Amino acid sequence: MNVPSRVCIVEVGPRDGLQNEKLTLSPQVRAEFINRLAAAGIRRIEGGSFVSPTAVPQMAHTDETFALVSRQNLRLSALVPNLRGLADALSAGADEIAVFAAASETFSKRNINCSIDESLERYAKVVAEARRYGVMTRGYVSCALGCPYEGAVDYARVVSVASALLDMGCFEISLGDTIGVGTPLQARRLVERVARVAPLDKIAVHFHDTYGQALANIFACLESGVCIIDSSVAGIGGCPFAPGSAGNVATEDVVYMLQQMNVETNISLERLIAAGAFACAQLNRAPASRVALAYGAKSDQPVGA
Ligand code: HMG
Ligand code: MG
Repeated sequence: MNVPSRVCIVEVGPRDGLQNEKLTLSPQVRAEFINRLAAAGIRRIEGGSFVSPTAVPQMAHTDETFALVSRQNLRLSALVPNLRGLADALSAGADEIAVFAAASETFSKRNINCSIDESLERYAKVVAEARRYGVMTRGYVSCALGCPYEGAVDYARVVSVASALLDMGCFEISLGDTIGVGTPLQARRLVERVARVAPLDKIAVHFHDTYGQALANIFACLESGVCIIDSSVAGIGGCPFAPGSAGNVATEDVVYMLQQMNVETNISLERLIAAGAFACAQLNRAPASRVALAYGAKSDQPVGA
């Protein structure tokens, strides 16, 4: 077995998770959630987005959230769709931003109301402007393993969008299985194709868990050398523009698997489970994490810290 000895978790629950929950949490509660995740040892957190509040009301007031986050040992990132979002993210003191392109024209149109090429033109300006302020940009490629409107997506389209994002200066590419349809061999083949244009240490994987394949997909990608994994504590969320999609793979499940394989994450599973329980209590829902449920059912069980 060949997996990296150390893996970086990018926690996207406060953005990707909360953006698709029925209840909208206050900036105070969102900041407390982020602070608890950071206290569990997570060092990279996507804390919100600066998008149209009409499109995603759950993410309104991300600036107020950021103002309340304790910044020690944390890279706090914000998702932005355009220069306006960048300006707001910079004012809020985001350490990093992320832009989001798609490998499917229909998804691009529905999600951000423009074609893929138009989005890339727009993002090139955003990345250049962010760089002027010393802020690094991550680039997402959505629908990397399938589109809710167009079905199968060619690897070549993903590679071409990933390549364009890298060329404009994104420091990292996150391959998004937005609707969670991918399976392990597909995920591995995708990573191998993208690795022809991007070094492996710049490739992150972002699996939604609609069909329960996310953990298996992650393992396949780890074996291909990927060492950056996006996840959402308690598996909260989904995608407002991909009906029926589940949230991201649960961070607790990923961390449990990694710890059991002796892969270093520097995350306390116990504190992570507590942070997920906090969010679920606020959202009035149960965790989708199997590990959180297992530990909850057997609360006397020792937790690997
Ligand atoms: P548009 O209608 O083409 O843009 O929307 P517009 O420039 O005509 O503006 C429309 C309205 O939005 C205007 O307000 C603007 O001021 C406002 P109005 O005059 O009507 O009151 N506006 C903004 N407000 C706040 N912040 C901004 C901003 N920009 C414009 N930055 C736009 C285009 C991109 C703005 C819109 O479609 C939008 O915000 N979409 C949100 C998309 C989104 O957040 N999707 C979810 C995240 S993507 C995802 O989850 C996938 C991912 O997780 C990876 C994966 O899973 O694959 C990343
Ligand atoms: Mg997502």
